[in-house]
Amino acid sequence: MTQQDDFKKALGNYPTGVTVVTTVDQENNPVGLTVNSFASVSLDPLLILWSIDKRSKSLSDFTKSKKFAVNILASDQEKLCFLFSSKEVDRFGQCEWQRSESQLPILANVASVLECETVQEIEAGDHVILIGQVHRIVNANKAPLLYHQRSVGGIPKTFYQAT
Ligand SMILES: Cc1cc2nc3c(=O)[nH]c(=O)nc-3n(C[C@H](O)[C@H](O)[C@H](O)COP(=O)(O)O)c2cc1C
Repeated sequence: MTQQDDFKKALGNYPTGVTVVTTVDQENNPVGLTVNSFASVSLDPLLILWSIDKRSKSLSDFTKSKKFAVNILASDQEKLCFLFSSKEVDRFGQCEWQRSESQLPILANVASVLECETVQEIEAGDHVILIGQVHRIVNANKAPLLYHQRSVGGIPKTFYQAT
């Protein structure tokens, strides 16, 4: 076991929710990926953070657009979790979504949505931490999708993909 394996195992003991963070590219096309590094930061002002892998195809879209929406998945949306973490697929062609007033892609039937403006970017190892100020919040009365020990909503991640 390497130290990285121990690290992954330890973090697997810390359950999280699952989000799909979305933005638009420079042609206003929708972009998004599955994210569980989302966390609350501050109440005054309202700030949240998440981190994006520097190898992510959409990193430059997020740093250029300076805005994003955090779509917090509901307990029955594990397929969206796998869709938005799969490579070489038409992610937005295979799900229901619409644009918000600020043009951000919002997925249908999620538990909550937080629309944010990027206020800080911090380079951290192989990721970039994006801190967002929250400008719009939508809440539905739904149970969240949970992720821990490589299992999403009780379904092993390896069942869908080998990442
Ligand atoms: C449950 C789960 C959580 C994930 N969390 C993150 C994350 O916090 N940050 C990240 O950069 N990638 C995360 N990923 C991986 C990305 O979703 C995946 O690499 C995706 O294909 C990246 O898409 P892109 O290269 O089109 O941006 C996660 C994947 C899963 C299944």
